[in-house]
Formats: sequence, structure tokens, C-alpha cells
Amino acid sequence: GLSMDRTWLGTPIEELNRMPQCAPPLCHLKAVPNHTVTVRTDLLREGDVPVPYPSKFKDAWDDVSVKMPCSEKNLFPVETEDGSGVQSRWDLISTALQRGFKSSLDVRDAILRYNTSHAKKWDFTALNLLCTEYLEHCEVQHLFEVIFPAMVDLALSAPHLCTMPIPLLKSRMNHSLTLSQEQIACLLANAFFCTFPRRNSRKSEYCNYPEINCYRLFEGSSPRKIEKLKTLLCYFRRVTQTRPKGLVTFTRQSTNPPNWESSQTHLTRLHITYEGTIEDDGYGMLQVDFANRFVGGGVTGHGLVQEEIRFLINSELIVSRLFTEALERNECLIITGTEQYSKYSGYAESYKWNNNHKDETPRDEWQRRCTEIVAIDAVKYRHFLEQFLPEKMTRELNKAYCGFFRSNVNTKHLSAVATGNWGCGAFGGDTRLKALIQFMAAAEAGRDVAYFTFGDAKLMRDVHQMHTFLTERQVTVGHMYRLLNQYSSMVCKNCRSAQPDVSLYSFIYEKVSSQMAADTLDPAMNSGMP
Ligand code: AR6
Repeated sequence: GLSMDRTWLGTPIEELNRMPQCAPPLCHLKAVPNHTVTVRTDLLREGDVPVPYPSKFKDAWDDVSVKMPCSEKNLFPVETEDGSGVQSRWDLISTALQRGFKSSLDVRDAILRYNTSHAKKWDFTALNLLCTEYLEHCEVQHLFEVIFPAMVDLALSAPHLCTMPIPLLKSRMNHSLTLSQEQIACLLANAFFCTFPRRNSRKSEYCNYPEINCYRLFEGSSPRKIEKLKTLLCYFRRVTQTRPKGLVTFTRQSTNPPNWESSQTHLTRLHITYEGTIEDDGYGMLQVDFANRFVGGGVTGHGLVQEEIRFLINSELIVSRLFTEALERNECLIITGTEQYSKYSGYAESYKWNNNHKDETPRDEWQRRCTEIVAIDAVKYRHFLEQFLPEKMTRELNKAYCGFFRSNVNTKHLSAVATGNWGCGAFGGDTRLKALIQFMAAAEAGRDVAYFTFGDAKLMRDVHQMHTFLTERQVTVGHMYRLLNQYSSMVCKNCRSAQPDVSLYSFIYEKVSSQMAADTLDPAMNSGMP
């Protein structure tokens, strides 16, 4: 039919809400108990670099704040003639980094001078290969003469730039943190040079946090690492050339799950396409990060799928790993204001850093780019049928709802959700089930959906047809929830093979159609006619 040659179906994308057009009026930015702001809000002005607050470094070495490399308490044991003593690790870091680098081996030696216990394990092959084989001579020269020295200055300015203790966003906290892009650049330069204390071992006090020091980026000889390093160095080149002037807000949010079973909510609108991506075509929408519970997943290691790519091109996302404890089932992380610095092509094994990207996204009154990204982690499934267990479906519904819901915002001010095959790549989920789960969560949160099937035209048609069917028959979210559970008990529970005998969509078509037929028969049967 006609739909065979359509690249998109459903509501035209122009009709869906985007920021900043749909934005509610924003109150004045100010620090409150559940919002930490690390800059002077009274001096915030478009076109000016935000001023750090407070003016002097405030040291905190406790279990509610990020332990900073420049803290006085960051000490290093040394052997002295009169026994053993301690030395400031920040002094050691400063000295090591300020000696200057002539080659990647010097970078390695500097990093290992304050990470001595890892000297045998850490491997810098990728960094070395990048400098000796992959970059042009003039690029290497620029890297060592301009970019690295500027990155060192940036990292070492931590005591002047990041003066306020950075709160850890721990489990079950509803808390926002607003940092300037310049402060983020400083923190990321420290991550690059692996200066954050207590962050090099999975057994440490930060075992429930993602990795932040970048040592795994330098290891091995995979072309992936080369492309990842190119992407990050593009970011550092940009932010050291021109100090970025905006802010970024990180919000950890937990929500109480709705009562799915009794929900009377109807589905919202859908735009679905097999062309384009969340980041390019979903600008101004709430963009879903197909996350790991450790946000950023394998970005500082080997990973290179949707989440890692997004963290690389919008590099400021990476700093969330410094302070975001692993997400729990009813939690998400919302990041507003990051900038895209790089263009890329390919995916996973074929990923390539392409070019510098000039981000023209407008800024809001808080000087944040109008780019809102939400990290929600799906469950990883090893066996296909597992995901149809009622408790698993409910878990995913609650997670998506947590990501999409905003309290105290009129739904007419909410942007559409830009999403796609969440949980259906590395995590092995079923796209057709996950699409319905996301529609139900979006409906409950009062938002439309733009769905990118990432090249899958058949999926686009199937999902659109199902969405149309459910909408025309005014099937509620509660009804859908009961249908999913019926599918689970009637088809999946006693299934002996790896795949169910009846597909989810045929089951729903069958059930809804026969229920409707029964409903239309009922009045005649009860009307007392002979
Ligand atoms: N826009 C739209 N769709 C996309 C895009 C994009 N830019 N990129 C990929 N897809 P995956 P998961 C589609 O595997 O299964 C990471 O390591 C494409 O069809 O990244 O939730 C995290 O840190 C792809 O197959 O997400 C987690 O550890 C599908 O989205 C883990 O992966 C799923 O992308 C999460 O895995």
C-alpha cells in the first residue's frame, strides 16, 4: 500500500512540542536546599563567563561530596629518611603535569607519577598509537604545543574554578546540581589526567559510582579508542580555545509509580520514522539516553553504542559520572544544557569522529542550551521471554515514567519525548514491547512521542499500525497493562520454546477485536428481545 514508501508515519513532527517554544516561564535561578548552584547567580549574564561561587576554595572531604584532587586531605604516602610521611597529592599532580609533554610517553609518565600503584597495570597503547600513527604531524604538534598545555592549565585551575563542594547525587535523593560549562571542562580535564582520588578501583568507597578517571581510554589498540580519543580531544580543543559561557543542570529524580492497572489515560500522539536520530531530529525534545545504571556505561572504557556516543559528542555529559551514584529502579538522571562538540558517523565498531560541530541550540534564561537528555536504564535480558514477566514489564514502565514525568508542569508546556529502541540493542529487549511500554509511560506523563526506529522500516509500520489501532479504539493505559499481563500468563508462561508461539501484536489485535465484538453484542443480548 501507500505506506510502503513512507519514511515517516503518524503525526507530522512539526506538530510536536519542542523547547524553547513550548517552555513554561522559568523562575529566577537560585540555590535552594534541593538545588546546588556553583556560580554567582546574581552575575549571570548572556555572553559572560559565569563567576564561580564562593570566591575561595571550600574544602570538603566527606561522604556527601566529591573528593577533589586539590583537597588538602588528598595525601600521598612518601618514604623519608626519618621514617614515612605524607605529601600533598595535589602538589605532586601539579609538578608532574607542569613539566610539559614532548610525547605521549611523557603524558603517561606524568599520570603514573601520582598513580604509582597502577604503573604496572595501566596501558597507554591507544594514546601512543593516536600520536604516532593516526594524527598528521601538524596535528600532533598542535596537540603537544597548544591543547595539552591548555588542558593542564584547565585541570590545575580546579581550586579557583570549582570552589564549592560538589554534592554526590546519591540513591533516593531528589537533587539538582548546576555547574558552569567552564567548571565541567575543568573537572573533565582532571578526569582525563586521572587525578580524582579513590576513583581507580572498583573496590573503593566509590564502588557504586561510574568510573571517571579516563585511564581505560588509553589502553589497547582498538580503533574504537582512537576515535573516542579524537572526539574527546576535539572537545578539549574547543573549550580551551574559547571558554564556554553556559550552565548545565544535572537532576536526579525518583518518582512514585502510577497505578497502571486502573489508569484511564489515553495514548498521546506519535510521530514515527526510520530515518534520522534522536540527537539530530529530536532537537528541543526530551531526548532519551539508553543508559546503563552506571550513567555513561562504557564511555571511559570499551563501550560505543547509543549512550557512549552521546556522552562523547556531548562531552559534558561525562562529568555526571563523577557524582551520580548508580540509578535505582525508580530513578533517572535529567541533564539540561549540554552542548554538542563533535559530528560522528558509523556506530559501534564503525564509529568515526568526523568533525567539529558548532551547536546553535538557543539558550534558556539560565544560560543552558535547550537540550534535555534523560538517562533511563532498561533491564538487560538474557532470555527473550524474561521481559514479559509482569514484574519486569512494570519495572520498565516505572523507569520510563520516571524519565518522562515532570512535577508541577502543565502538560501543554512539556516537549515530546524523542526516543527509539530503548533497551533493545546491547540489552536484548523486544522493540515491539518496549515501544508500547514507552507509549504508556509517555501517555501517563502527558507527552507526545517521536520514535526513531534507526533504519527499521518494518518496525515503523508495525508500531504505527498498532498505535493507530489502539488510539481508534480508545484503549486506555490500564487496559493495555491488563493486555500485557494476559499475554504474559496466556502465551509466555507455559511457553516451552525460546520465543512465544503468538506474537504480542497479534495477541493484542485478537483480544481487543474480540472484546469489542463481545461488547457490541452484549446490549442486544441483554435487551430482552426475543
Ligand atoms: N538514535 C536513535 N536510535 C538509536 C541511536 C540514535 N542515535 N543509536 C542507536 N539507536 P543500545 P540498550 C537504536 O544498544 O539496548 C550501553 O553500553 C539502535 O537500534 O545503545 O538500551 C549503555 O551504557 C540500537 O540497537 O541500547 C548500556 O550499558 C538501539 O537503539 C547499554 O548500552 C539500542 O541501543 C544499553 O543498551
